[in-house]
Amino acid sequence: MNFWHGKQIIIGLGGGIAAYKTLEVIRRLREAGATIIPVPTVAALQFVTPLTLQALCGAPVRDALFSPLEPDGMDHIRLARQADLVIIAPATADLLARMAQGQADDLLTTLLLARHGPVLVAPAMNPAMWDHPATRRNVTILQEDGLLFTGPETGSMACGETGSGRMAEPATILEAARRALTPKILQGRRILITAGPTREELDPVRFISNHSSGKMGWEVALAALRAGAQVELIHGPVALPPPLGATTHAVDSACAMLAATLNCWLDQPGCDAAILTAAVADYRPATRQTDKIKKGDVARELTLELTPNPDILAMLSAWSGVRTRNGQQRVIVGFAAETGNALVRGREKLARKGCDLLAINDVSAPGCGFGADTNAVTLIGRDGRTADWPLLPKEQVAERLITTVAEFIAHPPPSNR
Ligand code: C5P
Repeated sequence: MNFWHGKQIIIGLGGGIAAYKTLEVIRRLREAGATIIPVPTVAALQFVTPLTLQALCGAPVRDALFSPLEPDGMDHIRLARQADLVIIAPATADLLARMAQGQADDLLTTLLLARHGPVLVAPAMNPAMWDHPATRRNVTILQEDGLLFTGPETGSMACGETGSGRMAEPATILEAARRALTPKILQGRRILITAGPTREELDPVRFISNHSSGKMGWEVALAALRAGAQVELIHGPVALPPPLGATTHAVDSACAMLAATLNCWLDQPGCDAAILTAAVADYRPATRQTDKIKKGDVARELTLELTPNPDILAMLSAWSGVRTRNGQQRVIVGFAAETGNALVRGREKLARKGCDLLAINDVSAPGCGFGADTNAVTLIGRDGRTADWPLLPKEQVAERLITTVAEFIAHPPPSNR
């Protein structure tokens, strides 16, 4: 089911011009299935009208601390308790100061005092105001109180100045909100992920590659980040924006991907798991021409000599000397794109590669394969486990995989190495 479906979100708006971006946050959350309760301050209503909020949220604006419409006058307590998440966007300098002081002079600040659950704050103000020691103090107090922050970002401001103070973009706020609501089953873990295709150069202008979009690896990286992991994402050429908070390592060839992978696997903090989703080219040209191969340089037929690439998954799996981190087994997960007889081929592959888990998908099945947003995966384990997942958005496949990996790290099956 969609993550946001049925979630109740209070959007508290402060009085700043960035409130126009909050309208987009509201629109996207509603579109994803969340229920929104808008709680603007008096100043916020200078920037957006109650009618705008009501139309976007499909719910009346709550802005009165003492409303005759409330039978028992306990709106602030009820609102604070029932919501899954409170997002304050934009959080102005004044609103942050009032929150840090624990003031309760309007509905928004009062419900924040009564709130026990997660609160996400997206500050927006002039850079000088953001840098002011008073604002710094207030932010520290609120962080110590357990409030979560996203942004502000650096860039040009509505006031004409440039600096830090721009409210985070709607997509960033949505991702931060999602992380605020995701159980931290991988907190303190470091996860290595490979994604996308590799490119094997023939000459300075040509290469051999494949259709991998990197989407599956991206979703795995996002799911791991949401679960609290530190993510090292090693990827070939893809057209995707870096997942917020991941350390990315862009590479071209399989050999470069191997080098980057070994660096992360063998470096000092080490990694607890490697999830290798990359579609690594099996072969590369035996020689890379330094100059462009010209039509006249070769006979009519051009024969390419190819040499096998290293198998990163098999190498990591075979390296038994480095299969533990802090005394715990490290988990290695492979992906297998198969066509026909997928389960049989998958079992053979798991045995051949020596990994702990293998996510098999039949790329010939409808809705699966390169570039698709959905995937039907059968997960098999060296401990004999088999899980058949239905056709799901790649996001949900990734979420299930991360849950399995977290369980595997916490309770590894007995090693048969
Ligand atoms: O052998 P095949 O390419 O089907 O194996 C797929 C799995 O092995 C994927 O997890 C892929 O990332 C990994 N792999 C690798 N290095 C290679 C080839 C595949 O890590 N050279």
